[in-house]
Amino acid sequence: MDHREELETADDLQELARGFMDSCIFLTALKLDVFNKMGDENKSTEQLAGDLGTDERGLDRFLNALVVLGLVDKRRDKFSNTKLTRKYLLEDSPHYITNLMHVVHRWDSWSTLADSVREGGTVYERPTGKEGDKRTESFISAMNYGALKRAEEFIQLIDIESVKRFLDIGGGSGAYSIALVRANPQLQATVFDLPKVIPLSKEYIKDAGFEERIETIEGDYHHDDFGEGYDLTLFSQIIHSNSPKENRKIIKKAFSSLNVGGRLVIQDFILDEDRTAPPRAVLFALNMLVATEGGDTYTEGEVREMMESVGFTDIKRIDTDQNTTLMVGCK
Ligand SMILES: C[S@@+](CC[C@H](N)C(=O)[O-])C[C@H]1O[C@@H](n2cnc3c(N)ncnc32)[C@H](O)[C@@H]1O
Repeated sequence: MDHREELETADDLQELARGFMDSCIFLTALKLDVFNKMGDENKSTEQLAGDLGTDERGLDRFLNALVVLGLVDKRRDKFSNTKLTRKYLLEDSPHYITNLMHVVHRWDSWSTLADSVREGGTVYERPTGKEGDKRTESFISAMNYGALKRAEEFIQLIDIESVKRFLDIGGGSGAYSIALVRANPQLQATVFDLPKVIPLSKEYIKDAGFEERIETIEGDYHHDDFGEGYDLTLFSQIIHSNSPKENRKIIKKAFSSLNVGGRLVIQDFILDEDRTAPPRAVLFALNMLVATEGGDTYTEGEVREMMESVGFTDIKRIDTDQNTTLMVGCK
């Protein structure tokens, strides 16, 4: 998400205002499951309306708009996926992008942005029940999609050779634990996450074949202890969900979880001191405004202060190639 060119004309403002339309069309296609229902075939509107359970007239206008965006081809009144959508948007493709349904869901919370700005925090009512479960699953799948690459870089940037016990707080799919046990045969990992998430974590761990070396703990990091005896504790994409006060509390628990000489790594989007760069971190602050009570993106100074306040020393900043920063502190 690198940022837009400079705005200079009235037309630029018009274009910016209408920018939501393209995104709305794309996300709606994902929501309706248009690409998967089209699969490898050329289908008429009538066929697709039957497959999708939509109105034919509505769908026809919608498919024509997808053609304009370059997301669908149209030949002799039949529609088909493009090379790009076949590669990335079909569930059975090895290149399938698994985090886009989560973007569809974020659109719901982002629609409350004006009220969140008025109120200073989330006003969004999260779906519960079956829809809530579906969203948790697509959230964890989206997190896993981003974490796979980041975990590979993590093990290059953080020395894990001497680590015997690794604690992954809010570990989600276990992507970091899986990468660490794979890279270091001496290492045992623990994924700590909410009770609704741990059954999903177990699936990912089982699929990777590491049930023996990665244990899971169901817990709430605000209310439960983290245990002790760890050499390395990770908060990856955790602190942005919480207020500074909540973060100080959980960083203190991380300190207690570590052996002397152990390290805490906090991975997140880190803001420059004036909070207007880098763009992704600035926009992510809004993501947390619409979705949480007190979450935010933080500056390096703020994260250092949180870490120092509970006793971490020798704090270092390491920027990754994927828009995140690792803040590493020693006990
Ligand atoms: C943004 S995801 C990050 C997942 C993973 N660490 C990564 O970097 O890909 C936040 C994780 O924290 C977990 N989480 C949120 N609130 C929690 C809480 N109160 N206690 C324990 N885990 C929590 C979520 O279930 C989710 O797995």
